[in-house]
Amino acid sequence: MENFDFYNPVNILFGKGKIAEINKHIPKNAKILMTYGGGSIKKNGVYDQVIDALDGYSITEFSGIEANPHFETLMKAVGIVRSEKIDFLLAVGGGSVLDGTKFIAAATYFEGDEWDILANRAPISKAVDLGAVLTLAATGSEMNSGGVVTKAATKEKKAFGNPLLFPKFSVLDPETTYSLPRRQIVNGIVDAYVHVMEQYLTYPVNSPVQDRFAEGILLTLLEEGPKGLASDTPDYENRANLMWAATMALNGLIGMGVKSDWATHMIGHELTAFHGIDHAVTLAIVLPGLLTKLKEQRGEKLLQYAERIWNITEGSDEERKTLAIQKTEEFFQSVGIGTRLSDHNVGQDSIDTISKRFLERGYVGMLPDVAVTDVAEILEARL
Ligand code: NZQ
Ligand code: ZN
Repeated sequence: MENFDFYNPVNILFGKGKIAEINKHIPKNAKILMTYGGGSIKKNGVYDQVIDALDGYSITEFSGIEANPHFETLMKAVGIVRSEKIDFLLAVGGGSVLDGTKFIAAATYFEGDEWDILANRAPISKAVDLGAVLTLAATGSEMNSGGVVTKAATKEKKAFGNPLLFPKFSVLDPETTYSLPRRQIVNGIVDAYVHVMEQYLTYPVNSPVQDRFAEGILLTLLEEGPKGLASDTPDYENRANLMWAATMALNGLIGMGVKSDWATHMIGHELTAFHGIDHAVTLAIVLPGLLTKLKEQRGEKLLQYAERIWNITEGSDEERKTLAIQKTEEFFQSVGIGTRLSDHNVGQDSIDTISKRFLERGYVGMLPDVAVTDVAEILEARL
């Protein structure tokens, strides 16, 4: 196992009715900016629960944070935070609202061009405190200190992060997810699945605890995902398990001391930036291509994955690895995702543009086994 520092200070308030407790975690004299998206929280009762819990507080609202939140939109909120002297941000929504709010927290005290936080990973030395009420289990943003923001003008989607951006608390009430459309439930299952794969399906470093945690999350998603999708009536236990699985997939724990990749995410972000394809869908497109390309290098972990997740124990190494990748793609398809670029009208011209971006950037993920020159081949295999 490799050396690591583990730090995660997020107070998780898990379960039904927990929104009512947020006032225990926000200073009474705080000036709050409540951030949210396009209005789902007004239809499903979450908005009312938050307002009730914050009776007596000074609250300003900022709505309209879009999916794959825009830098341009978030900078409007930064203006409000600065002019109204807001000192607490409360994000109510999915990963986009949470990420967007983290960016607002970071940009408020930033001196200089705020885009540098994203473009150049400019250091952040101070941030506004924030809390979150999660309504979509997928990204893990509720228990990590990172985010992803898009500059609409240039179609650039970039990640940022800083320990100052861990939420002070996050409410995970599975009932808030009851109003999710099927498409977003699917996105959550697949995003969480690929988060685990980015940290697990790399190279062995003798980390049985991390491996078995990761495998436990994958198996939970494979069991609970289809179970939840099979019925139109949400089941509390099912939603609770999916929610916790998604949080555990990206709160740092399974990534400690192991080799993490994130190349699938980096390539996927470009597909979202250029074509607006849902984040999770981009991952389901890219991952099978990436694993196929790395079948040799990542062979040991692929064989472990084949056996422990898919019970594949017979056949040659090559056959078992191929079958495990095939089963993974079939799972994504079984929940309704089109795993080919052609399913989303993306062609060679777009691959050329994306590949050029990586050549200019000079890196893909965190491991040297995916080179910038591989991006075209990975995507061409997914046409
Ligand atoms: O805007 P509203 O009206 O709230 O509607 C949203 C949005 O249209 C809707 N929704 C959310 N909760 C709902 C609901 N609809 C009904 N009932 C509810 N309870 O769902 C739509 C999608 O929401 P969004 O927040 O965009 O989805 P998700 O949570 O999948 O977040 C995706 C974003 O997170 C980033 C992605 O790149 C993408 O920008 N990620 C963040 C990560 C992180 N911070 O660690 C890691 C991930 O890999 C990912 O990159
Ligand atoms: Zn993701």
